[in-house]
Amino acid sequence: LDELGVRRDLDGRRVMVTAGPTVEPIDPVRYISNRSSGKTGYAIARAAALRGADVTLVSGPVSLPAPEGVRVVRVRTAHEMLEAAEEAFRDADIAVFAAAVADMRPRAVSDRKLKKSLDGDELGAIELVENPDILATLAARKDRQVVVGFAAETNDVVPNAEAKLAAKRADFVVANQVGEGMAFGTDDNAVWFVDAEEVEELPRMPKSRLADEILDKAVQFLR
Ligand code: CTP
Ligand code: CA
Repeated sequence: LDELGVRRDLDGRRVMVTAGPTVEPIDPVRYISNRSSGKTGYAIARAAALRGADVTLVSGPVSLPAPEGVRVVRVRTAHEMLEAAEEAFRDADIAVFAAAVADMRPRAVSDRKLKKSLDGDELGAIELVENPDILATLAARKDRQVVVGFAAETNDVVPNAEAKLAAKRADFVVANQVGEGMAFGTDDNAVWFVDAEEVEELPRMPKSRLADEILDKAVQFLR
């Protein structure tokens, strides 16, 4: 503890955090995205900086101020997020993937604004393709990095999180239930920590405290 009673257990460590949604353009004025507020990722970045880490926050568009002492790299699409995260991941000791990456994007981006149907024509469909999985892509290359994933589930939270833990090679997964009025945009959250050995259910708590719990758990995996 320092003179203010703050733990400095991440002194000399590099932490990378992805946060917020990504937005995937349809045309110059429209996009596909999701309800992520970025609060969890920003809280983790802030907490890591307070604990002494050198922090890079790769953030999709959110309406949150940059946490003090944190390097923020702003991106829009999943592809941009992958590129920025790739660079930060190389030097990271802990990598936290809190972003709600859009799983799909329109195959083609129209360079003109799409027009609404004239005289009752069919509107047609937007063809979607899958985005790269940033967590899985980077975790496949990990050497010393502690990899923390998230799992946003509406149902079967723990089994789904266990499947993601294995499929993505994370060291642990922070699983939470999402849905109307839950997790996205709120200031607190109830989660499960899922690793290869155990499942731990945490009580509902503010995202600021949850950030420290996540970092406490990540520190245990530091090599
Ligand atoms: N993730 C990612 N890149 C993606 C999709 C997800 O890095 N293209 C990361 C998220 O940041 C999170 C974890 O993978 O840490 C799980 O995200 P989630 O949306 O819960 O799972 P998906 O693998 O995308 O599966 P699904 O949405 O179909 O449940
Ligand atoms: Ca997803």
